[in-house]
Amino acid sequence: MRVIVEKDKDGVGRRAAQFVAALVRKRPNCVLGLATGSTPVGMYGELIRMHREEGLDFSRIVTFNLDEYVGLSSSHPQSYRYFMQQNLFDHINVDARDTHVPDGRALDFEAYCEQYERLIKEEGGIDLQVLGIGSDGHIAFNEPGSSLGSRTRLKTLTHETVRDNARFFGGEEEVPRLAITMGVGTILESRQCLLLASGASKAKAIRDTIEGPITAQVTASALQLHRDVIAVLDEEAARLLERRDYYLQVERAQSALQSGELGAPTEGS
Ligand code: F6R
Repeated sequence: MRVIVEKDKDGVGRRAAQFVAALVRKRPNCVLGLATGSTPVGMYGELIRMHREEGLDFSRIVTFNLDEYVGLSSSHPQSYRYFMQQNLFDHINVDARDTHVPDGRALDFEAYCEQYERLIKEEGGIDLQVLGIGSDGHIAFNEPGSSLGSRTRLKTLTHETVRDNARFFGGEEEVPRLAITMGVGTILESRQCLLLASGASKAKAIRDTIEGPITAQVTASALQLHRDVIAVLDEEAARLLERRDYYLQVERAQSALQSGELGAPTEGS
């Protein structure tokens, strides 16, 4: 896993947006996997800025969101569809028909989840999956104990997640207890993953994810099995990582390589 540590939350948003923008420029018809929650808000803001000021073109992208609360319609202010419209889709030139957020009011959830998986495949799979992380180490809504091979399905939220998300709903009682979520197996099939985290409340989950054992008790730790994951963290979220110096060294070597400093010696030298 490549680990990049930025100074603060804003730095995480800017750096993450650079990765997304680079892919959109290189492959204008790419398939992006997107996340909601407070973590990616800065990244979305930066992508909107790039669209407005630099002409970053989203007209050919296709998007799939990780999850949605069961029972909330797309017009509910706490639904993830509403969040995506407010924080990204309404401000860029993405074709609405190419944005997919699971339907929290599907009639037959089993059939719906299978169809969501099928749709991802039909679009050629996800090129880059953006992920936040829960304080219990979940990715999407794959709560501790979720199968590491799981696919899109319904999941019961843990008390910890309900408590963490109560801030958006004005109280725990209002938080739905069930969500549709891509599975860990679905996420691992993305070609690249971009894991974002900021703030001290994520420090333990991040340490367990990056330096702990792979376990269904911390579903994000399954990302260790993926060959192309970039974690972009702020100082606080990275605080408990033991091998921080090494990650820094890797980043320095990477920039030296890119700038040509480590290029092959010239003839005669
Ligand atoms: C949201 C999602 C969740 C969040 C996680 C962190 O689509 O899949 O896994 O990424 O709960 O949420 P925040 O960013 O609000 O701390």
